[in-house]
Amino acid sequence: MELNKVLLKRRSIRKFTDEAVSDEDINEILHAAMSGPSACNRTPWEFFVVTNPETLEKLRKAARYSKIKAPLAIVVCGNLSKALPLQLAPFWIQDCSAATENILLRVTDLGLGAVWCGVHPMKTAEKNVREALSLPEKLIPLNIIHIGHPAENQEPRDQYNEKKVHFVR
Ligand SMILES: Cc1cc2nc3c(=O)[nH]c(=O)nc-3n(C[C@H](O)[C@H](O)[C@H](O)COP(=O)(O)O)c2cc1C
Repeated sequence: MELNKVLLKRRSIRKFTDEAVSDEDINEILHAAMSGPSACNRTPWEFFVVTNPETLEKLRKAARYSKIKAPLAIVVCGNLSKALPLQLAPFWIQDCSAATENILLRVTDLGLGAVWCGVHPMKTAEKNVREALSLPEKLIPLNIIHIGHPAENQEPRDQYNEKKVHFVR
């Protein structure tokens, strides 16, 4: 699909069929994720690809607005041992967000649907995801992306707002 079409077509999808996401599609999605930019190319990200039903259930309960039933979840984590030092460390959030958006766009391009459910900086949600995935201290879960075959339709939408644009000429 043309990039401009994918950008507008990407909408949060929160209802999915039971059909599994193929290994080929998961592979495509992960390649897209790791094609993203990262500060000083540190690539301080780790991706947990979850299809285990009990773990999916734990992830659904992990955060207040994450109660979504999908056959696949990808948890995007920042790896503090790979992050930039000292005050530059929080750049991992931007790096992992860029990877997340790439995931959402590739998912859309493949005819699948997804929703980004925020975890960091909500401490209780972080703790719940950490326990569900047995994460070591150095990994911080940024979000849970629920992915599957869409069981709802969201119309493409252009939210362009000229009031938010500030030309400096
Ligand atoms: C940082 C972040 C956290 C979000 N967390 C949630 C969430 O916990 N649950 C949810 O259903 N949607 C979540 N969303 C999706 C937003 O609600 C959604 O992107 C927004 O309403 C715009 O709709 P659209 O994605 O269809 O364009 C999150 C999006 C972002 C970027």
